[in-house]
Amino acid sequence: MLRRRDVLAGLGVAGFAAAGGSGLLARQAAPSLKPRPPVSGGRLHEWTLTARERPARLLGSSGPNTPVWTYSDGLLPVMRVHLGDRIRATLHNELPQHTSIHWHGIRLDNPMDGVPYLTQPPVMPGESFTYELMPPDPGTFFIHPHCNESGQTGRGMASVLIVEGDEARRPDDDIVLAYKDWRLAPDGAWLPTETAEGASRAGTFGTVRAVNGIGAASRDVRPNGDLRLRILNLDNTRIIEVGVEDADAFVIAVDGNAVAPFTLDTWRMGPAMRLDLLVRAPAAGRSFKVIDYFGAETWTLGTFMARGDAKKRTPFDPALLYAPDIPRVDIARAERLSFSFSAASGSIAETAALLAPDDPLAKILMDALCVRDSAFWAINKTSWPSGDHRNIPPPIGMLEAGKSYVFELSNVTPHPHPIHLHGHTFEVLSASRLKRPRHFADTLLLQPKERIEIAFVARPGDWMFHCHVLEHLEYGMMGYLRVA
Ligand code: C2O
Ligand code: CU
Repeated sequence: MLRRRDVLAGLGVAGFAAAGGSGLLARQAAPSLKPRPPVSGGRLHEWTLTARERPARLLGSSGPNTPVWTYSDGLLPVMRVHLGDRIRATLHNELPQHTSIHWHGIRLDNPMDGVPYLTQPPVMPGESFTYELMPPDPGTFFIHPHCNESGQTGRGMASVLIVEGDEARRPDDDIVLAYKDWRLAPDGAWLPTETAEGASRAGTFGTVRAVNGIGAASRDVRPNGDLRLRILNLDNTRIIEVGVEDADAFVIAVDGNAVAPFTLDTWRMGPAMRLDLLVRAPAAGRSFKVIDYFGAETWTLGTFMARGDAKKRTPFDPALLYAPDIPRVDIARAERLSFSFSAASGSIAETAALLAPDDPLAKILMDALCVRDSAFWAINKTSWPSGDHRNIPPPIGMLEAGKSYVFELSNVTPHPHPIHLHGHTFEVLSASRLKRPRHFADTLLLQPKERIEIAFVARPGDWMFHCHVLEHLEYGMMGYLRVA
């Protein structure tokens, strides 16, 4: 059988149709999405999330127990709310170290953003913190800590957060595929989630691949049904390139934001990126697969068997979602800023040595040495001073609230970096390497030597801006924007 990736390789493209963004859309007459009707009368969700160690058999039901760290029972649990609902979530910290909750991709108020020292005090062992928010956008999101990220998220601290209310009609099923590796020894013990070797290169990879916590997904689906697949890459490190074999699949949302549907070839997802697909299930007795084509060998995320009560076969209409409702950017008047993602030019100690002895930055940098003495990565030649947030450096950009910005991001390293901006949903205007239609996102994959332009309207607060390969952010590729 001719595999999808061979076809793409034959065209000389890694991941996308060669025709370019507009070509992609043009190929499938882009149905324009209907505007979302207003919502009213949401409810209040009161959650208690207790971060602590819990045993889990990550290698299968007959395997050894591993002490995972989670917010609640179950691995990568799914929490669902509806647009217009409010969330009051109290985090109790029963871990041996401080933690927090970051609501990745949610355009919330800055004090609820979950970044210790920057937006809130760290939640120390034995302490609690209550987050209150009302998500303004529907879609597929997730939560994770913003402290010792590779260690805490690596051990399991992440939950899926779905905000419903974006569907113009109901699909026949809604399936979450949360991808995340575990870094385990064969006896189930943790291997270090950080290594100098990994941190200075593509990151440290897990040893066991998994969807929704354990192994690959497998389930029955309704023959001829329309299935919404919500795929999340929650891994610390690994990039996956998702395709569907033996069924028709449309991309319907990126990072939770609806797009005019287009046929999926494959979609490359760095850590923290999400992709919603609408898949037409095959006839009874047939199956289809969701596959990661990124590595030398493919890996199957899920196998879905069409079984049971068949639906009558109708034409496949991929326009499932309402249009996103994100503030419009005034591109013509937008201020343009450039950010370069690079390796650190020298060690922190070297940088500090260049500053006048009374320069306050020197103290910040030297204090950081107590925590970690090397930074491997930088944004605009500035490295976050340590993996911790204890020594907050100056912002890497000063923005004005309500004003439009176009950022040009360039990657001058040989590694891909999934870049995330907190508290905003930006429009991806152009990309020099991976061809994609214009779309909204909160995390984008910057390929080696790639330049990408994004646009957004700045929201008030101090917003983290970083690579989501967790070791990259911990070793310097992290900063924040101050929007006043
Ligand atoms: Cu998921 Cu600071 O990010
Ligand atoms: Cu990176």
